[in-house]
Amino acid sequence: MSPQVRLTVNGKPATIEAGDDDTLLDVLRGPLGLLAAKDGCQPEGYCGCCTVLVDGHARVACSQPAHKFDGKEVITLEGFDGPTREAFALAFASSGASQCGFCSPGIIVKAAALLERNPAPSRPQIAQALAGNLCRCTGYVKVIDAVATAARLLAGEEQPELDFSGRIGSRTPKYEAFELALGEKPFIDDLSVDGMLFGALRFADHPRAVVTRIDTTHAQAIEGVVRVVLAPDVLGRRAVGCIYDDWPVLVGEGETTCYVGDVLACVAATTRDAARRGAAAVEVEYEVLQPVTDPHAALAPEAPQVHPGEGNLLKTYTIDRGNADDALATSAHVVTETFSTQFIEHAFLEPEAALACPEGDGMRVFSGGQGIWDDRRQIALVLGLPEDKVRVTLVSNGGAFGAKEDLGVNGQAALLAQLTGSPVKVTLTRAESIRMHAKRHPLTMSYTLGCDQSGKLTALKADIVGDTGAYSSVGDKVLQRACGHCASAYEVPNVWAQARAVFTNNPPCGAMRGFGSNQANFAMEGCLDRLAEKVGIDGWDIRFLNALDVGGVFATGQVLGEGVGLKQCLSALKGYYKGARYAGIACAAKNTGVGNGLPEHGRASIEVFDDGSIKVRHSWTEMGQGVHTVLQQIACEELASAGVELKNVSVSVDTERDFQSGQTTASRGTFLGGLAVKEACDKLRAELNGSSLVELAGREFTAEITFDITQPMDDPNLQRSHICYGWGAQVVLLDDAGRLAKVIAAHDVGRVMNRNLLEGQIEGAVHMGLGHSLTEELVVEDGHITTPTLKSQGIIPAKGMPEVHCIFIEEPQPEGPYGAKGVGEIGLIPTAAAVASASYRFDGKWRTRLPMKDTAAAKAAHPRAVRKPGAASS
Ligand code: FES
Repeated sequence: MSPQVRLTVNGKPATIEAGDDDTLLDVLRGPLGLLAAKDGCQPEGYCGCCTVLVDGHARVACSQPAHKFDGKEVITLEGFDGPTREAFALAFASSGASQCGFCSPGIIVKAAALLERNPAPSRPQIAQALAGNLCRCTGYVKVIDAVATAARLLAGEEQPELDFSGRIGSRTPKYEAFELALGEKPFIDDLSVDGMLFGALRFADHPRAVVTRIDTTHAQAIEGVVRVVLAPDVLGRRAVGCIYDDWPVLVGEGETTCYVGDVLACVAATTRDAARRGAAAVEVEYEVLQPVTDPHAALAPEAPQVHPGEGNLLKTYTIDRGNADDALATSAHVVTETFSTQFIEHAFLEPEAALACPEGDGMRVFSGGQGIWDDRRQIALVLGLPEDKVRVTLVSNGGAFGAKEDLGVNGQAALLAQLTGSPVKVTLTRAESIRMHAKRHPLTMSYTLGCDQSGKLTALKADIVGDTGAYSSVGDKVLQRACGHCASAYEVPNVWAQARAVFTNNPPCGAMRGFGSNQANFAMEGCLDRLAEKVGIDGWDIRFLNALDVGGVFATGQVLGEGVGLKQCLSALKGYYKGARYAGIACAAKNTGVGNGLPEHGRASIEVFDDGSIKVRHSWTEMGQGVHTVLQQIACEELASAGVELKNVSVSVDTERDFQSGQTTASRGTFLGGLAVKEACDKLRAELNGSSLVELAGREFTAEITFDITQPMDDPNLQRSHICYGWGAQVVLLDDAGRLAKVIAAHDVGRVMNRNLLEGQIEGAVHMGLGHSLTEELVVEDGHITTPTLKSQGIIPAKGMPEVHCIFIEEPQPEGPYGAKGVGEIGLIPTAAAVASASYRFDGKWRTRLPMKDTAAAKAAHPRAVRKPGAASS
């Protein structure tokens, strides 16, 4: 029997049994069933998602054993008084402060403690108070807005204006905004079902080693362990993947590990603790081999092969347009430089989780994946079941940024459920999450760029090598995107580019916001700044001179149609740039849709119910970006005449409808999903014909739109590589000490669908882009991650963020819903180059490597990060 802990929780006495390793968070979320406090990084205590009040002070609940709180009074967000909960929920909803919402409950508890001490804090005081709370989505701008609003509300000074119209262009609150703020929107780890077991994974100890023996004797002897599953137990296929089926859900005896996130055993047990102890007790013996860790060395013919017989070159993409060599030979000015970027951890705040439940002769899985129809296909393969025996239901996740495109732990959870016959929930710890999922690619980019006497670009040569790590994930396509976006947003008449994705024994690299284009952008924009100096013009002039416009030719050869607002973005920034002493500027283009010859679909339906409410079913994952809300708004806009309002529109994403559209990626959810919902509404309206909506109760109106208008980059007759592009430019201003002072982000979005969501996307992306530029780095040495914690990722805290000012240009995209184009990724693409350019103006040093930890900007934004391993600049 475990010792007892006596607490007063939300005003009520509670006596709970708690083991020595059980934290306060375990007790709150376990026996007490209080789920508002989230586990983002237990036992680190760094993200603040589990913040509660202990004897009136804000404390993280995950980093200390429960028994240390014996006799204490604990208040969770559930226990706050009604007016305080209401004030914060209103403030967060009206400000757009919850994107994925995983961080919101912890931030609200911390903010409430601040307001108790200081009822009217300034913005810097709020930022300072939130030093122990991470938010990966918002860039903190709207979080600080919300805390300031809550302060005024609690002081009786104002009522926030909430726009529930749901109309296009409004600041309609996010779908489930109140539930997200208060921690009431369940994430997967908040779900429980009767008879549920807990799963845990045993990971590899070496990045490249032959597994000679796996011994489960001790694991199976642990009380509570129900089943230990190894590779031979898999009834279907072990290796699956988004594009290539090469990523095994289990690696078996006699096989060779490819990275330290390989799974060697899965354990199901009656408690999470027993499952994790069981996984740790699985004994493994190896014959350790030298890992392949340098992508350049991996290309040598004699290099060991990560996947024997396959070679280490996953894919090569090329562009060869005009004659770059001849044009460079006759150019007035030429610069040649090699740029490199780092591994980056996505650091979404909700670690991967999956709940798998056997249903009849099939399986139902609750997934936070970015493409649940892809999840279904892969899970079915692993289980050896036909796809129609697997149902996957989306649970909106707590951030993804690309890393939840891969199968995550869905395969292992489903496997354990299949083999135990019981529901099984697998939730990774933060350390496991960092170890397992794919990262942002480090790229090495050798660029030569030329221009004429006036600064007009003549030719570009770009040779790009990407470390794609152990498995293919979507690394092939990331390098494709880097290649296609090699010239950023500029007209270059002669382009030769090559991008190669190379296997190593480092963590797999896959999708991350920007998807290779931001790395290439850093190189291209860096060359442009160097050329401008040779020509004798400034950064704005050379960009405006070369900026793409309607009729211009993109790097791939695509002739651009209507909807190019780049020059308007630059014009909006001209005064900011030219009027500041330490300013940097860069442009960006980002594809909407994956393109490159792949047909793309938007699929959706509108179902009508007896009470006149409707359900929008679609195919895109809500991961904080707001796709549920925008599609809900489209339904409101299109069906306003039928009396449809926000409050009677629900949203669902579930494979019970055949809406396969691929991954929620490439900034395409609003574009493709929006067109599909719009068309479904058209069909409904056509049937309505003057009658009331309830007369259509029981009907479901389904729509499908398809774009099959793009060609692969190597098509000699290429007309179009992507459906369209978003355009943007940013100016970064430094103060007289070289610190970040302000970022002005001008973006052509086609149409503002929801201003709160849009600002949130750009502000959050700028925060991520500044981290990419200055402080963030996942350090990998000999295939091992040496920065395995959230704390060590170098994410800029609230107090390190500068002011962000958004300017939106609305140059309509003819094909887009209401003229909209994608915005999910572009906000971080120009940031690194703009920071590098501003820093050059400040200290006269050209930089070619990210992160630029040696800058004054980095040292001020996150002083601790610059002292970590990997501090580098050239
Ligand atoms: Fe803060 Fe997603 S809203 S982490």
